[in-house]
Amino acid sequence: MTASAPSSQLPPSARLSAAPAAFPAPMYPHKATEEQHRERRIRTFQPRRGRMTKAQAGALDRSWERYGLAIDGTPLDLPQLFGGLPVTLEIGFGMGDTTASMAAADPAMGILAADVHTPGHGNLLQFLERDGSENVRLAAGDAIILLRDMLADASLAGLRVYFPDPWPKPKHHKRRLIQDSFLDLVLPRLAPGALVHCATDWEPYAEQMAEVLAGRPELENLHPEGDGSHWLEPSEHPAGSVPGYAPRPDWRPMTKFERAGLAKGHVVHDLLFRRR
Ligand SMILES: C[S@@+](CC[C@H](N)C(=O)[O-])C[C@H]1O[C@@H](n2cnc3c(N)ncnc32)[C@H](O)[C@@H]1O
Repeated sequence: MTASAPSSQLPPSARLSAAPAAFPAPMYPHKATEEQHRERRIRTFQPRRGRMTKAQAGALDRSWERYGLAIDGTPLDLPQLFGGLPVTLEIGFGMGDTTASMAAADPAMGILAADVHTPGHGNLLQFLERDGSENVRLAAGDAIILLRDMLADASLAGLRVYFPDPWPKPKHHKRRLIQDSFLDLVLPRLAPGALVHCATDWEPYAEQMAEVLAGRPELENLHPEGDGSHWLEPSEHPAGSVPGYAPRPDWRPMTKFERAGLAKGHVVHDLLFRRR
């Protein structure tokens, strides 16, 4: 698959519409996530107690078994889970509105959507019920564990990270998701040609993303020409790296956090890279 190709251009073998596999773990994963919270490591998310609406809780009751899986360290068989579709991992889907509309717009792409936020789980399930989507699986828990323990090498056709927590204070920068140690986990899981798509409205984080992504020879920047803004002056580019934010792709719907950022006058940057 090429970075810009919609999945309708994929070979027929990649466009199977097999019925979703039954899930081995029918229970919503309170236990698994509790255990993860005891593991000592730096977290990229703010633990928050989520208050669910009745509608979100209802969707969890009805549809967890159909769509959900616990991030509990058990290796996943993605071809079986997604009936052979190529699979993009989205980390931090929030309330799931973007995830659901991208899934509905491209049913030939499987989306493995991960988040720790419980009300968001119920919310995404509401959208999936509404749309009858068959190409999404909701992974509940920390995506770092999903990447580290549960995904096979070269198993992902893409990675999406939209408006990750910006962690603006310097003492919290170590919590930012997009950093070298994260790419050490991600890069082996990406199949050749996989599209890496990040977006943020936090300028210093956009610069960090650009530097970290451009610093990896395994990744090719699809928009070295940039979108008219610059993260570094040409003389400052690290050797071998290529600058350039991507123009905003029209196939990425506006997310909730993006809307909030724009309302504060922030500038949004997209970054699009391809695994060589
Ligand atoms: C700022 S919100 C953005 C949500 C959504 N993408 C949007 O643009 O509206 C970041 C989300 O990432 C999730 N998150 C952060 N670190 C995560 C991790 N390691 N695993 C799974 N989800 C994570 C948070 O729970 C939160 O829902």
